[in-house]
Amino acid sequence: MIFDTHCHLNSDELYENHKEIIKSANEKGVNLILVPGYDDISSMRVFNLVKEKNIYGAIGIQPEEIKHTNIDKMLELFSLCKDNKKIVAIGEIGLDYYWEKDEGTKNKQKEIFIKQIEIANELGLPIIVHSRDALKDTLDILKEHRPLKGGVMHCYSGPKEMIYDFISLGMYISLGGPVTFKNAKTPKEVAKEIDLNYLLVETDSPYLAPHPLRGTQNVPGNVPLVVKEIARIKEKDTSEIATATFNNGCRLFGVKYED
Ligand code: NI
Repeated sequence: MIFDTHCHLNSDELYENHKEIIKSANEKGVNLILVPGYDDISSMRVFNLVKEKNIYGAIGIQPEEIKHTNIDKMLELFSLCKDNKKIVAIGEIGLDYYWEKDEGTKNKQKEIFIKQIEIANELGLPIIVHSRDALKDTLDILKEHRPLKGGVMHCYSGPKEMIYDFISLGMYISLGGPVTFKNAKTPKEVAKEIDLNYLLVETDSPYLAPHPLRGTQNVPGNVPLVVKEIARIKEKDTSEIATATFNNGCRLFGVKYED
């Protein structure tokens, strides 16, 4: 059994066909899927998707989406989490400086990130963190605003030297498609280095399709390719990687597979 801990069945690309995509993933041994929101519309869709068996969700404002997110709507959705047992995290939230050089916008990202960590702590939920070109600021914020229920560094792209800084704050490290890319030295080093007790796997569908499907529309049924590459790097059986990452995901998000 495999747990795809980050898959956007709520994206425009996948939402319409989500039933078939879930069925096809199940046939490939991908039995649990977590769908994170990134703005108000995608978060609203999460509430619908979690009606499906073995589909769990998270809601949140992703840093790049702040400008076009209806914040009032999001606050309303956060208040609905208390009554929905299948919304199991706040995310994806974080910092993204890849396109952003403006200090004012960066500060706005930090403010919204911190606010959402506080919401997660009030709700007693873990967080799903998106961090691109902003690892140092992300770490500083997590140190100052500890996620009380922990969380995950989704599609971690930082150096292996920093993983235990995050793990010591209750975070897991998640690897996706990039670990399979031939020239991806850093994620492969992270895969080799990390203690299997802190690793999760994901697709980030519809983005970041793993090798040899790179460039195509990604789906949760592709996550076994990520597991296979990590197993090769760690010189372990694929079943050992699948089981460990499945159990880690269940522990972090407090979920279990329903037969
Ligand atoms: Ni994502």
